[in-house]
Amino acid sequence: MPAKVNLQLSVGPLRDDGYHDLVNVFHAVSLFDEVTAAESDRLSIRVVGDPAGQVPLDESNLAIRAARALAARAGRSYGAELVIRKSIPVAGGMAGGSADAAAALVACDRLWGLGLSREDLSDIAADLGSDVPFALLGGTAVGTGRGEMLTPLPVSGTFHWVFALADAGLSTPAVYRECDRLREAAGERAGWPALSEPLAHALRDGDPKSLGRALVNDLQPASIMLRRSLARTLDEGREQGALGALVSGSGPTCAFLAESAEHALDLSVSLRRVCHQVVSAYGPVPGAVVV
Ligand code: C5P
Repeated sequence: MPAKVNLQLSVGPLRDDGYHDLVNVFHAVSLFDEVTAAESDRLSIRVVGDPAGQVPLDESNLAIRAARALAARAGRSYGAELVIRKSIPVAGGMAGGSADAAAALVACDRLWGLGLSREDLSDIAADLGSDVPFALLGGTAVGTGRGEMLTPLPVSGTFHWVFALADAGLSTPAVYRECDRLREAAGERAGWPALSEPLAHALRDGDPKSLGRALVNDLQPASIMLRRSLARTLDEGREQGALGALVSGSGPTCAFLAESAEHALDLSVSLRRVCHQVVSAYGPVPGAVVV
């Protein structure tokens, strides 16, 4: 199941339910977590490839919650032994938890022989988290509402990315709160967000230079306030010729758009000077699939 980077994250006003209305352009990239579901009497979870033990193994784990929600929809108490092989950074702003939840939905649906439609799975996904429906869908799509109402966007070709990963994650609610605080302090009122026309054109034309110029993330100033070192990382990528540089989602992963696969390789070598964990990936890629 793929990770995502947000190409446009425009944050509107705070709603009564504690969420913000967004225009959120998701782009699935070729960093994958793998989830397997095996028969079992009860529901259990194990994580491989998370040496720091950052993924929770209790009921707060999004994949466990996904399996429970699916069983509840089917009106039965099913069991499964879930194993997650992590490659997506944890709490990195790349929707790794959402990818695992989407994978658990698809895997358990198959294991239990439920045969739910993509629409039904997407409804369950939206209750689990704002980014989970996109992890099912993949590709490139604009999310409105709190990000869960999706419309696929036309894209030509492939874009090449480099991601600089941080040692520790950032809390998504804390970043949204900081965004509200910064706006209030500046006397700014959040406008109603709209899909960026230059961004949509750049995607449709497969034009990385225009896409680099159109990338935007309203959460970025808040993420930088909470993790000052991100400003330096972004500058380094720009100095090394990245076509665009931005914090991915609520961070702290920084995303850099390269001109080509070769340029991505050069960029990752340069970025390793300021960040010890750097990975390359391309997008768009499909969403959750059974392999
Ligand atoms: O939906 P999800 O559980 O991923 O959201 C995590 C947190 O991020 C929410 O509790 C909220 O604080 C913030 N959020 C938001 N507006 C959104 C999506 C998330 O304020 N559209």
